[in-house]
Amino acid sequence: MFLLKKLYFYLFILVSFSSLINAWFFNDFGNEHTDVFSALNRFKDLEALDSEPIPDTSLPLSEKNEPNKEEVAADLLSTLLNGGLGLPHGLSFLKQVTRQPWWKGPEVCVSKVEQIVNNSQSDVAEKSPFIFLGNAAFSTCRNTLNKYICTNKIYSREETKTTEVIYQCCSGARKNHDTGYCEHVDIKPLDETAKNLGSGEFAKAMDSYIKKSVLETPNMTVFIPSDNAVNMYLQNLPTSYANERVIHAPAGNNSQDDSAENEITSTGDKTEKKPALSGNAITSERALNHFVPGIYNIHDLENEEILKTIDGLTIRINMYHGERKPLITANCALVKSANHPIENGGMLHVTDAILPQITKSIKDILKENSEFKMFNQFAADADLLGKLGEPGNYTVFAVTDAAFNKLSEDMRSKLQKGKSCITTLMKAHIIPRTLCGGAFGKLTVMTRSLSGNWLTIEKTINNTLQVGRDSETTTTDIVASNGVIHVVDHPIVPKSAQPVTSLMANKNHTMWLNLMKKAGFAETADEAMNRTIFVPSEEAIEKAKLDELDDDKLKEVLSLHISDKSVCSCQMKNNLMIPSLVPDEELRVTTYETSGALFVGLDPKIMVQCASIIERDEKACDTMVHEIDKVLTPATDTIIGKIYNDPSLSKLKQLLMNTSLHDELKNGSLGPITLLAPTENAFANLTEEEWKSLEDKNVADELLRRHIVSDVVCCDGVGMSTWPFSEEVNTANGFSMNVRRKSRNSVIFGETTTESCDHLTKDGLIHYVDKVMMPRPISLKGSAVKYIDSNGAEVVLLGL
Ligand SMILES: *[C@@H]1O[C@H](CO)[C@@H](O)[C@H](O)[C@H]1NC(C)=O
Ligand SMILES: *[C@@H]1O[C@H](CO)[C@@H](O)[C@H](O)[C@H]1NC(C)=O
Ligand SMILES: *[C@@H]1O[C@H](CO)[C@@H](O)[C@H](O)[C@H]1NC(C)=O
Ligand SMILES: *[C@@H]1O[C@H](CO)[C@@H](O)[C@H](O)[C@H]1NC(C)=O
Ligand SMILES: *[C@@H]1O[C@H](CO)[C@@H](O)[C@H](O)[C@H]1NC(C)=O
Ligand SMILES: *[C@@H]1O[C@H](CO)[C@@H](O)[C@H](O)[C@H]1NC(C)=O
Ligand SMILES: *[C@@H]1O[C@H](CO)[C@@H](O)[C@H](O)[C@H]1NC(C)=O
Ligand SMILES: *[C@@H]1O[C@H](CO)[C@@H](O)[C@H](O)[C@H]1NC(C)=O
Ligand SMILES: *[C@@H]1O[C@H](CO)[C@@H](O)[C@H](O)[C@H]1NC(C)=O
Ligand SMILES: *[C@@H]1O[C@H](CO)[C@@H](O)[C@H](O)[C@H]1NC(C)=O
Repeated sequence: MFLLKKLYFYLFILVSFSSLINAWFFNDFGNEHTDVFSALNRFKDLEALDSEPIPDTSLPLSEKNEPNKEEVAADLLSTLLNGGLGLPHGLSFLKQVTRQPWWKGPEVCVSKVEQIVNNSQSDVAEKSPFIFLGNAAFSTCRNTLNKYICTNKIYSREETKTTEVIYQCCSGARKNHDTGYCEHVDIKPLDETAKNLGSGEFAKAMDSYIKKSVLETPNMTVFIPSDNAVNMYLQNLPTSYANERVIHAPAGNNSQDDSAENEITSTGDKTEKKPALSGNAITSERALNHFVPGIYNIHDLENEEILKTIDGLTIRINMYHGERKPLITANCALVKSANHPIENGGMLHVTDAILPQITKSIKDILKENSEFKMFNQFAADADLLGKLGEPGNYTVFAVTDAAFNKLSEDMRSKLQKGKSCITTLMKAHIIPRTLCGGAFGKLTVMTRSLSGNWLTIEKTINNTLQVGRDSETTTTDIVASNGVIHVVDHPIVPKSAQPVTSLMANKNHTMWLNLMKKAGFAETADEAMNRTIFVPSEEAIEKAKLDELDDDKLKEVLSLHISDKSVCSCQMKNNLMIPSLVPDEELRVTTYETSGALFVGLDPKIMVQCASIIERDEKACDTMVHEIDKVLTPATDTIIGKIYNDPSLSKLKQLLMNTSLHDELKNGSLGPITLLAPTENAFANLTEEEWKSLEDKNVADELLRRHIVSDVVCCDGVGMSTWPFSEEVNTANGFSMNVRRKSRNSVIFGETTTESCDHLTKDGLIHYVDKVMMPRPISLKGSAVKYIDSNGAEVVLLGL
């Protein structure tokens, strides 16, 4: 970012670039993916399971009862927030059309929780502005799906008193989602309520097989599958999930203790269709995991919340907010209807499937299933299997061995060689949240897997899930204690999980790949980790005739293009040195702002050893690949060494001798620089007189410093189009110099033009130029002019 730019026509630029800016914004947004789930979760409270009126906007109505302090505060606040006080009198009729809020309506019970915290010294310090004012009170109210909660905080010097007042439907009442108000409901026993909701079958079974004492436990939340779900289950028809077929323990240890009379078996001729592992019957054991001690209004539950059932198993609650109404699942069974009060203070929710029993972790389920041998092995290789055995929230797209075998032999063996390949690949199959099949409605979901790749998932017309481009689920919703498994028919292979040789083949770096093979580099390339490879374009390879090199030379050239450090373009700062595989050879990174970049948000141009990076960050699983437009050449010498060793720079050397610049070049105190080295021909054009003036070492020193640019400026780093921008570089004697491109192969620095560009050295760069820039009046900043007269005296003219 060394090039100083002067922007001359600010207004012109702003006008002409405004359309570009728009395009840029547009593109930026187009490329940005939003994580649907996290984004939508933020709006959780805005969407009701059933539609509910917008929160109240009315002024407080007069109350028969003396309102308590909190209510007054709450009313005042909501009034303020809604701009009620600002309503002109003439418009006061508007107030009459607004409705009474539900939480002031019938069947609403108010409870109050008070908490007093003694203020510690540090609290006092923190809240001091309030304390100085004496007591301070704050009140906030919010409407959730089933509650209206007002929080009142009173600070004083000694204590903070928090009072929470909660309005909700009384037990025995239910929010009517059409009116928005709480309504009294006739509380009936569980079985009767269930029957009225079209879920009588399951309740009937429970009545016969579950102990009365259990059924009559007070304050129980019960998930009841609909009759349809029960029938599907008994007949072993495919439901949206297929837990039973996969989840159950291996034969022999399954439900052995269920006595035969404790089962309702499916009727009729379905027996031969029964799977070997699990007779589809609703046993008492099978039913008990639908009972949760405690009262849980579905709106009070959180996404990924785990409920403990009466038999010690778990129910995982998930909420998906993508569709118009949020979808709520319990162990991946969709909750169809919620919050029905029942006798004994209980609560009933209807689901569209029998809740699977959760006893095992994802790891256990995978390990018990012989279809997932490779998946388990790879997950273990990637150190992920252990994680899948721990508590967490995961969705795993499990790949069967048969599906893994769909990958080419070559790809499989490469995957197995490189640990980071397999890690990226396996991580691409794991999503760090629970996504049940029921979560996918009409929307296409984009979510990030553990590998950081975006995965698109959508429901197909066949009720399966399309995952990425290649994979489709064969079984969904195998629920585990720490998430859910969906089985897919093809591995998910993100680009970044490709071995580097596959990437090169896919990206048409064919010649380079062949050279790597020829030099014996290809075999090890897929196993190496944390590498960067600069791959020259096919044209560049052809031009450099790399195929004509003998093996030793080829190895050296290739080694120069490979680094054992992984460097993305995001890390490439100006003058970063990247070590190469050639001992003591480092690659210099230089960056260049392109004209107008500031305005259109273009990334700066990045060069490596003066070769432009034309394609950045092609990421293989273990290697970063950047395509460049030239074959890299090593930096062979230092600048001073080059001056000594190159006979065509003998005049320059002669001038340099005994100047202080000589020592500074030698000890590197000038930092990375660009030397504009006049050739012998250029010096030949100097007059006698001019030569003579240069015998003075101070004059020579000053002259040579004009030929030193205090940065590394590769010829190709200088932009093609310079108008209306002018690019400037600083010279070692503290002036700035205009730089512009003359033709494809030459650049004009000040008054001189390059004859031969980009001679790389360890400490910078040399361009051979065609002219010595003898001192002439140089315009200074402002209106001063400075020149050195023929006697070597420095003359500064002011006010010209
Ligand atoms: C607060 O302080 C009072 C008196 O200093 C004490 O009785 C009370 O227990 C304290 N409360 C808490 C929550 O620490
Ligand atoms: C049931 O819940 C109600 C209201 O929350 C409570 O008053 C009652 O004590 C609870 N009963 C039992 C047995 O826990
Ligand atoms: C099978 O069940 C028996 C008794 O319920 C138990 O002791 C044994 O550990 C179980 N075996 C497996 C592999 O789970
Ligand atoms: C699962 O997700 C919930 C909600 O985001 C979070 O509170 C919980 O800690 C997570 N569980 C684990 C084991 O990470
Ligand atoms: C749906 O299933 C049918 C029959 O199995 C198959 O031919 C079709 O390709 C599937 N469609 C999709 C979108 O998966
Ligand atoms: C590679 O080359 C083939 C044939 O020349 C072409 O069809 C394909 O699009 C190229 N792929 C890339 C990534 O450039
Ligand atoms: C690769 O890089 C990562 C992160 O920088 C580091 O933790 C790891 O040890 C490196 N691996 C090798 C083989 O150098
Ligand atoms: C540099 O200085 C030394 C001693 O001061 C002198 O002998 C030598 O000739 C000078 N070299 C040049 C090129 O002026
Ligand atoms: C390099 O040489 C110059 C001139 O002799 C001197 O002023 C400077 O301090 C030296 N710098 C270092 C880092 O040695
Ligand atoms: C050098 O001198 C020759 C002959 O006098 C002239 O043709 C040429 O243009 C000059 N070169 C420069 C860079 O001035």
